[in-house]
Amino acid sequence: MKGIILAGGLGSRLYPLTHATNKHLLPVYDKPMIYYPIQTLVRAGIKEILIIVSGPHSGHFIPVIKNGKEFGMEHVEFAYQEKADGGIADALAIAHDFADNGPVTVILGDNTTDADISDSVKNFKEGATIFLKEVPDAHRFGVPRFDSNDSSKIVEIIEKPKDPPSNFAVTGLYMYDNTVFDKIKMCKPSARGQLEITDVNNVYIKENSLHWAELNGYWLDAGTFDALYLANKYWAEKKNPTIKNIKI
Ligand code: G1P
Repeated sequence: MKGIILAGGLGSRLYPLTHATNKHLLPVYDKPMIYYPIQTLVRAGIKEILIIVSGPHSGHFIPVIKNGKEFGMEHVEFAYQEKADGGIADALAIAHDFADNGPVTVILGDNTTDADISDSVKNFKEGATIFLKEVPDAHRFGVPRFDSNDSSKIVEIIEKPKDPPSNFAVTGLYMYDNTVFDKIKMCKPSARGQLEITDVNNVYIKENSLHWAELNGYWLDAGTFDALYLANKYWAEKKNPTIKNIKI
């Protein structure tokens, strides 16, 4: 299984921080943010990785990632998304050649988690697998609506719903078979002008080939100031538990 980290976008929700560098290189406690999704993939045995970048600070990635060896990667490639605000599915389309007709595990560069997805990666066969996490603010994410007669079945995913049909977020961690690249071609830009990964996942739902698992452990998408702060707090306290006792 090959891995893809999507690390493009303008990170406009984090201006002025993202005037200085790309969102995925901002600090999360003692590491640049992108270290965490790299670790998630490498821990799951995925060591051939494509990092898709875009925006004005694309060149900042090379001195941080280098040849990937220090992270345990066997092979790292970079690709450039021309339209920085083209959306997740637009970025993923660039990985078609890299995937080489095989399946891919995709993770968004601002998703930090300590969950171990090794078993899901080992057992992946066909279709798509998404990972859900119960959250207090589901309206910020893609949200699944479950079948009213069968709560294990997702009938639809709604992107950033005003009135979320469940308390689950679709996390930015996905496994796809190679048909994902044809499915992306079937999608049209959304109201925010992006090719949405949620639309791609809904194509899998229509084909009855979308599987899901609950992500065990901590997960945050560090794309807003508050979430970035909480991600820093989580990793700081995990790595140095005594920090909680410091009075400021
Ligand atoms: C994206 C996806 C959304 C998903 C989220 C997870 O949101 O569109 O479905 O729940 O990542 O991090 P965005 O970061 O583009 O707002």
